[in-house]
Amino acid sequence: MSAPNKSYDPVEVEALKPEEIERMRDEALAAFAAAGDLDALHEAKVAHTGPASPLALANREIGALPPHAKAEAGKRVGQARGAVNKALAARQAELEAERDARVLVEEAVDVTLPYDRVPAGARHPLTTLMERIEDVFVGMGYEVAEGPEVESEWLNFDALNIAVDHPARGEQDTFFVADAEGRSGSGVVLRTHTSPVQVRSMLDREPPLYVICPGRVYRTDELDATHTPVFHQVELLAVDEGLTMADLKGTLDHMVQALFGGEGMKTRLRPNFFPFTEPSAEMDMVCYVCRGESVGNPERPCRTCSSEGWIELGGCGMVNPKVLTACGVDPEKYSGFAFGFGIERMLMFRHNVEDMRDMVEGDVRFTRPFGMEI
Ligand code: PHE
Repeated sequence: MSAPNKSYDPVEVEALKPEEIERMRDEALAAFAAAGDLDALHEAKVAHTGPASPLALANREIGALPPHAKAEAGKRVGQARGAVNKALAARQAELEAERDARVLVEEAVDVTLPYDRVPAGARHPLTTLMERIEDVFVGMGYEVAEGPEVESEWLNFDALNIAVDHPARGEQDTFFVADAEGRSGSGVVLRTHTSPVQVRSMLDREPPLYVICPGRVYRTDELDATHTPVFHQVELLAVDEGLTMADLKGTLDHMVQALFGGEGMKTRLRPNFFPFTEPSAEMDMVCYVCRGESVGNPERPCRTCSSEGWIELGGCGMVNPKVLTACGVDPEKYSGFAFGFGIERMLMFRHNVEDMRDMVEGDVRFTRPFGMEI
């Protein structure tokens, strides 16, 4: 037997009385049972099993007991802590199971809900009209050719017989691209038409050549109801042996019939001048609304063509032999025809769009009535 413990302090060791330890245990069990969720349980766990909890403190007091009392107190505290830990683990498991069941319900995905309530997007009517035009020509055996929008001045102008002092080359009409140091005279422009794609096609390949060149083009116009600095064109080029103006006319007639419905649709040519075609013409098509019947007929006025019977479509002509030569095509052997027109303008009169700004602003209230073509 060892000597009595001198440091034995009867006040402190109050904490080791059996009823005290039972109380501590019961309080812990009650706190765990009362914890309604895992956060509350965590707090109760810190309070009743942490280093500052009554049972942990009581455990520390065991060392202060006289030796004969140590074993007894150690057993009581140990049993109490064991019961507390067991109750904690049980409540933890219970609350986790409750949480898992709740998450399953709250975060359940209803696979029967419609998946497509976000409206599907659609392409712009300019794109779909351009493709419709392409389809008409692909049906006639043409190839679709595309080229860069940042283009060399030579391909955009010189190869097309547009003289250096031609007004179209001025800064009022053309966006010139500065060089890396910001100086002008780089010889690079934003293409003002898709004709350079035709030049590229002739330089690339031998005739016979049938290409259609759709694309975006740039001119220094201010955006208003009838102008936009960025617009779209479709241009066409055919180079073969023996092509004449009659082939051009037949091709144009077929195009307007395919695009506007056959009955009575045709085109007419009026003399004009373009440096790259000779002879050149302005092409009109019969008004697709009144089909010409409003002309001289006050009983049946037509708003679409102002009762003129014709709608101006674009320019055309036989490819100038100078252009063929510049592009490596022998004008003695081959001839060609070309035409070009603006898609925005065609969309305007084909769908009664009154303001060109509607086409560039991207408001779906404008595009939606065209349908959801994708
Ligand atoms: N390139 C002309 C323009 O953009 C259109 C055109 C093409 C005219 C072919 C005649 C022949 O204005």
